[in-house]
Amino acid sequence: MQTTGPIGVFDSGYGGLTVLKALRKKLPNHDFIYFGDNARAPYGNRSFDVVYEFTLEAVKFLFEQGCPLVILACNTASAKALRTIQQKDLPQLAPNNRVLGVIRPSAEVLKESTKSGCVGILGTNGTINSNSYPIELQKFAPNLKVFQHACPMWVPLIENQKHLHSAGEQFIAEDLAVLMAQQREIDSILLACTHYPVLKKQIEKIVGPNVKVVPQGPIVAKKLQAYLQAHTEMNNRLSKNGSVTYFSSETPVVFNEKAGYFLGTKVEARHHSF
Ligand code: DGL
Repeated sequence: MQTTGPIGVFDSGYGGLTVLKALRKKLPNHDFIYFGDNARAPYGNRSFDVVYEFTLEAVKFLFEQGCPLVILACNTASAKALRTIQQKDLPQLAPNNRVLGVIRPSAEVLKESTKSGCVGILGTNGTINSNSYPIELQKFAPNLKVFQHACPMWVPLIENQKHLHSAGEQFIAEDLAVLMAQQREIDSILLACTHYPVLKKQIEKIVGPNVKVVPQGPIVAKKLQAYLQAHTEMNNRLSKNGSVTYFSSETPVVFNEKAGYFLGTKVEARHHSF
């Protein structure tokens, strides 16, 4: 009988938990392993080479744990490492395994979500400076007008739970004002960082009811479900006991407390460092 394994979900920190939550809702029988590289997060301001190196280490670790499929639930890693891992590393490491990212599926949904043709992208410095979203959207929606803004303070604010403090709220409002000042017609904003769904309600309140705020978790979950329906050979390699195992490069006590906040449930992580 073929051996089966869990779906690996990777993020630099806690943000990928917003994707994991949506994945588990859509695929409740599948097993998952989450790895957060919390000890080395945030990745947002790190160089291309460093993000690639760290992401590759995480993918190798998840493969060693028996995951035939790994989702990079991190825009920064998807922007800076996914293509090289898919094209250069995967054929040598594990040619039958797959590594998927969050950029293409999110870009496709963003195109559908806008009526004005003007969309906003919010992300880390790494994601925004890579221009990954405008480049991806240009391939299938060349008429779309894309406006971007990097919010380097948001991940630290969220990870330290300071986003609801008045100073945190001020940073968030200022960043949104900078994005919206670029074009009044923006009617859809993609939260192109998996941490940002924590701020969804705050953002909606600031931008008002005419602007759609689009989180990535449900998008990635829906696309993964469709992918597994189309790739039954991969789905057959995935174990299905409805379990989830958490690993963090940070001390488990710290991870458990913060992850519990993101997930709304108790978490017992194991430690893994490189
Ligand atoms: N959650 C990650 C993303 O989607 C970024 C967080 C970080 O800066 O490490 O880009």
